[in-house]
Amino acid sequence: MIPQSFIQDLLNRVDIIDVVDRHVKLKRAGANYVACCPFHNEKTPSFTVSQAKQFYHCFGCGAHGTAVGFLMEHSGLGFVEAVKELAQSVGMKVPDPRSEPAQRKAEAGDDLYAVLLKAAQFYRAQLKAAPQAIDYLKKRGLSGEIAKRFGIGHAPDGWQNLAGAFPDYNATALVTAGLVKANEENRRYDVFRDRIMFPIVDVRGNVIGFGGRVLGDGEPKYLNSPETPIFEKGRELYGLYQARRAIRDAGRVVVVEGYMDVVALAQHGIEYAVATLGTATTALHVQKLLRQADEVVFCFDGDDAGRRAAWRALENSLAQLVDGKQVRFLFLPQGEDPDTYVRKAGKAGFEALLKDALPLSAFLLRELVSRVDLESHEGRAKLLQDAKPLVKQVAAPVLSVLLRGELARLGGLDRDEIDRQYGVERRGERRGRSHFESRREMLVSNERRILQCLVFKPELHRKLDVRFGGHPSTPVELFLNDLIAFTRQSPELTSSAAVIQEFAGGRHDALLREVEGTISEWREDYDVDQELADAIHKVAISSQQNRVKELLSKRVEDWTAEERSEYLLLLQQQPLTAQLSK
Ligand code: CTP
Ligand code: MN
Repeated sequence: MIPQSFIQDLLNRVDIIDVVDRHVKLKRAGANYVACCPFHNEKTPSFTVSQAKQFYHCFGCGAHGTAVGFLMEHSGLGFVEAVKELAQSVGMKVPDPRSEPAQRKAEAGDDLYAVLLKAAQFYRAQLKAAPQAIDYLKKRGLSGEIAKRFGIGHAPDGWQNLAGAFPDYNATALVTAGLVKANEENRRYDVFRDRIMFPIVDVRGNVIGFGGRVLGDGEPKYLNSPETPIFEKGRELYGLYQARRAIRDAGRVVVVEGYMDVVALAQHGIEYAVATLGTATTALHVQKLLRQADEVVFCFDGDDAGRRAAWRALENSLAQLVDGKQVRFLFLPQGEDPDTYVRKAGKAGFEALLKDALPLSAFLLRELVSRVDLESHEGRAKLLQDAKPLVKQVAAPVLSVLLRGELARLGGLDRDEIDRQYGVERRGERRGRSHFESRREMLVSNERRILQCLVFKPELHRKLDVRFGGHPSTPVELFLNDLIAFTRQSPELTSSAAVIQEFAGGRHDALLREVEGTISEWREDYDVDQELADAIHKVAISSQQNRVKELLSKRVEDWTAEERSEYLLLLQQQPLTAQLSK
């Protein structure tokens, strides 16, 4: 763990304007900077960066966060990497958390990187000395250039070849890395023997694991590295590192199932393909991909297994959808995979298929409709029932409306009825679209005003009575409660960025976004102290009023002595009596 205080120092030192501007050209607009949002497609800029408050916020798609968050989202870096990169840019050094026991994992991780890199270099060197492996790759249509691009190597036959590559064959890191195992007699042996080796590389280019394919027909066809502290299959995508540039240029990424598919596509000039690593597509995969491209096309075999895999991918995409971006599905003809298909049809043939890939909404409706009989009331009812949990996950407001419209048509209901059935509030749809509308929201609760003030200027938490809070129940109160706890636990906390860094992406994310939207329009000289004082005052009054109402709901004769004196005390408080007399 990187200490919280370091993150705060870092966020105080970097300027988010510099960080963002390196990737997206910013233009000054009043107190803020704006640009067309790099996270969704748009023609007029709604991506806003606040220099004063050091956060970015897109009024269109809701992307938001600090300089650290921006690097993570924009460059696909992990948290630690993003912090390191930023620290480096301002000449700070991330503290070495040695000594701390919880950090052993991270240390071991550093070893793992070194070990895996060394192994990859070894396998690559071995390929040159393995004519049968080179033949195999050639037979599969791969050039030396492509083999090099993907760092493809060969693990020689034999039980302890890695002993020649590592000074200490008994090192634990070799086992942790999944390169070496021990048998019952505790003799160690290489896991990968006589296999074509595909290094799996993270977004920074570090080797984090391997996939190894037999040269012929042996079993298992592929052997993969186990998950380790640095390799999580649900997070990584094979080929992403090599594909990043092409993905940006094409605005599109194709997700396939196999190592060979990625490599063969690249061989034929389709360099924007990545593969999941023998696992189902996760929401994290989709999120990662949608950040880098406007269009994600899942490409699956045309068989039942392919369709099931596609459905899983669809389910895990729903909550990640963003209006203006597309997720589509391509089903290959029976018996083909991307590798075989591109070899026959070439780049143009494959891209022609891509062009006709099925949009997610069409795939969703097609599958659901195929499960029911639309001619009967029961069938239509089932359709609507089956679609409900899926549609409710769709985060993109426009797409959600369109889907409900289409379902209404198919189910023979009108739109309002569908929305009632699905428990969708029409008002909610508008909220995401324009911040001007939310500004018109007449009634901003006092708790919310306090929340806004604290995000704008966190040190103001000192102005709150220690007993403030009580029993939080609304989302605003819950956030406020967590925020106050956070600020109290690090009293030196002074920046909005630190607060946003802590809460962005968490359970208060939606609310945080709204708050950012409001405070990004506050000028630096905004009298936030006065705003807070006023809001606190009003909260106090209304809680007193509630207490008075509560007391008055009992007959005065039944009051206890404490209640009687409490009432008298409440009455002495000026603003209260003034309010009550109205
Ligand atoms: N896979 C695996 N273990 C296996 C088989 C498959 O981990 N025993 C994973 C691999 O990531 C593989 C992907 O599933 O790349 C797709 O498998 P498959 O379609 O069987 O292989 P292909 O990619 O077609 O490989 P090849 O063309 O080399 O036969
Ligand atoms: Mn194949």
